[in-house]
Amino acid sequence: MQAHTIAVIRGDGIGPELVDAALAVLEAVPRSRDLRFEYVEIDAGADTFRRTGKVLAESDVELMRSGVDATLKGPVGLPDVRLPDGTEAGLLGGVLRTGLDLYANVRPVLLLPGVSSVLAGRAPGEIDYVIVRENTEGLYASRGKGVGNRWAVSDTLMTTREGSRRVCRHAFELAGSRGRARRVTCVDKSNVLRSHALFREVFQEVAAEFPDVDTEFLYADAAAQALVLRPDEFDVLVMENFLGDVLSDLGGATVGGISLCAGGNIGDHAAYFEPIHGSAPGIAGRGLANPIGQIMAAAMMLAHLGHVRESEAIRWAVTSALSEGAVRVLADGTAAGGPQAVADAVISFVDREAP
Ligand code: IPM
Ligand code: MN
Repeated sequence: MQAHTIAVIRGDGIGPELVDAALAVLEAVPRSRDLRFEYVEIDAGADTFRRTGKVLAESDVELMRSGVDATLKGPVGLPDVRLPDGTEAGLLGGVLRTGLDLYANVRPVLLLPGVSSVLAGRAPGEIDYVIVRENTEGLYASRGKGVGNRWAVSDTLMTTREGSRRVCRHAFELAGSRGRARRVTCVDKSNVLRSHALFREVFQEVAAEFPDVDTEFLYADAAAQALVLRPDEFDVLVMENFLGDVLSDLGGATVGGISLCAGGNIGDHAAYFEPIHGSAPGIAGRGLANPIGQIMAAAMMLAHLGHVRESEAIRWAVTSALSEGAVRVLADGTAAGGPQAVADAVISFVDREAP
């Protein structure tokens, strides 16, 4: 019997309804008789902060580190729940990514069927690359720690050899396993920033360990352009934290919007999976939220746990439901019928045999 314990963070705004939809799909996936999931719920986010004065209990960080196999997380944060310095109180990115040392933020950018891309004439599957965002240092090492006064504030971009090495290795291993172009693109501003020059230097050292994987180098500004003009040519891209934050939203916009995009935050001892968008409190409970990013996050989590067949079954069901029109994504990224209707439609495909 293989039982996995999954921590669940339902999140704020549309989070709970998205997580419900994703868990319904997860439970519907046909699986070998001896694979089971047990769930433990973690109270975390802006609403938790409002009620308890803490965004997440220390014991729950410990639980995510050593008590569960993975975590499925909904979006967190509410615009009106803020710290005295003006930043949002309900966010978990810093606490969890640095706290659990989840150094690789893996963000697939995939054009699904039935979704219209702002890039004219792109066919489903033609855009299919992964941004690997360094997740524990870079400019966000400064998260909440900038120094200054009311006239000026400075944030520091920190790049270490070891931090660059481990995220580059993750990117090369991923490129070797995706069965596509086997290419890793290094994105940086090494023509201007010393920290990015170090990142590129380490990338080249790591590249030498993977002679079967091709490399490409792009400055970040040129990369922003290339992701719009020739997105079909990318396989895996690796980059510093802030660049990855920005370019993964850009990538999301080219495949129908970030409501469809999932991300994994992966370290050597823990991992959590989430949609890359925010908690959209304005549409919560109105039957509009699109759970596809959250459902794809659950699929990523299954693959991470080694259940590739079950993960593929979810991806196949989402793809089929979209291509047959059973799930419709509207131009603004919302989903016709809302999360429950989307989950029901996806589940009806999960029940059919994949070819
Ligand atoms: C993301 C988000 C977070 C980040 C925000 C909400 C703190 O933008 O996951 O991309 O900064 O990384
Ligand atoms: Mn972001």
